[in-house]
Amino acid sequence: MARPLALALVVDRAAAPPLSSQVAGQIREGVLAGTLPVGARLPSTRALARDLEVSRAVTEQAFDQLAAEGWIEGRHGSGTFVSAGATTRPRQRPPRVPAPEPGLVRLDTGTPWIDPRHRAAWRRAWRDVSAAPAPPSYDDPAGLGDLRVELATHLARTRGLQCDPDEILVTTGTIGGLNQVLAALPPGDVAHEDPGYRAAAEAIRASGRAIRDLPATEPVTDLTGTVAAYVTPAHQHPLGPVMPGSARLSLIGAAARAGAVVIEDDYDSEFRYDVAPVPALAALDRDRVAYLGTTSKTVAPSMRLGWLVAPTALHRAILARRAVTHDVAAWPVQRAFLSLLRDGYVDQVVRSARRTYAARAARVTEALRPHAEPILPVAGMYATVPLSASRALRAHASARAAGFDVPLLGDYCRTARLTGLILGFGGCTDDELTRALAAVVAGLS
Ligand SMILES: Cc1ncc(COP(=O)(O)O)c(C=O)c1O
Repeated sequence: MARPLALALVVDRAAAPPLSSQVAGQIREGVLAGTLPVGARLPSTRALARDLEVSRAVTEQAFDQLAAEGWIEGRHGSGTFVSAGATTRPRQRPPRVPAPEPGLVRLDTGTPWIDPRHRAAWRRAWRDVSAAPAPPSYDDPAGLGDLRVELATHLARTRGLQCDPDEILVTTGTIGGLNQVLAALPPGDVAHEDPGYRAAAEAIRASGRAIRDLPATEPVTDLTGTVAAYVTPAHQHPLGPVMPGSARLSLIGAAARAGAVVIEDDYDSEFRYDVAPVPALAALDRDRVAYLGTTSKTVAPSMRLGWLVAPTALHRAILARRAVTHDVAAWPVQRAFLSLLRDGYVDQVVRSARRTYAARAARVTEALRPHAEPILPVAGMYATVPLSASRALRAHASARAAGFDVPLLGDYCRTARLTGLILGFGGCTDDELTRALAAVVAGLS
């Protein structure tokens, strides 16, 4: 007969939950995580009570509870086992982020098209910065006041988000803002779209929190047991759809019931091709949604600048921490972006990039349509192409042989089983795009 598994459990007599709940909780978690597989034999209640130095009543009560919930079952005369019907949590694969390979043009989702007027605008901005007196001490922990005034107008005009300059915190970009939100939240799991933004998943993991996968193709109805949900409602990354109104309400309702905050990553909504961008999710419920914006798609990812508009308690907690840590974007970078906003360059670049992306998206769908069914992009700088795993790999290999790295959709999935390609068309030239598309089509034919 199988030997009972040794269980590495601990009980904390000073903790509030009863000892039997602590024991039951750790066994339940072991089954969910798959470390206690279906059919595994558990130690007897007597042996476990001895190991944990608790009374046998404690372990018996824990086993009774787990049996009532269907996690374990006693078999007469042979012991207690993990039940055949116990569900395990699907194993999360860490998203694969292949290192960029020298010599390959990477058609990724993150690199934007840079407007030819960028250099002149950049030079003007830095001339302006050089004439402005730098603050002699640590500056405002919320970020440069004049920039927040300009951002409040910009957000109201472009994102339908009405907020006061005092409600804005300047950040070092989306991930910089996310890290500050994570540092201020109470302990607990964070829900995140699957497939989803890999850098955000990495930041959540690095903060010591577990990720709850939210299937990116379904509305969110339940966030019980999480403290936050990270989403990309304006343009789901990397599948592309805009979150419909009913799903927005469902998400906010689920967050309200769970007492969780929704973290809205609004990374490229400005680049909607056909109509004005849908208003930010945060415009629906400022008390529930923390809004993250970035300069990475308009100016350049190297700028490392963004903004956060958070519910009041979260805002205050982050601001108080920043007043002590000075974890604020560098003043010259903030000042340079202020110049770019005032100068009209940001609006200009959004208009011209939108036209460029719309034209390139049309080229991608036209080239691929005879061979695949790309999800028609409505915004931004990439197109998602669902394909069987073998066709995706063939097209990926064909592009690679021609000098292009076209990311695989599977590399953005943790438990989802979606396969295909994601074709970024922001950071390449028109000629590179033509050659990459020819290579992908050759791999699909
Ligand atoms: C989904 C998503 N969010 C945000 C960003 C930008 O992040 P950051 O502002 O940290 O550069 C990117 C960049 O590729 C992205 O793909």
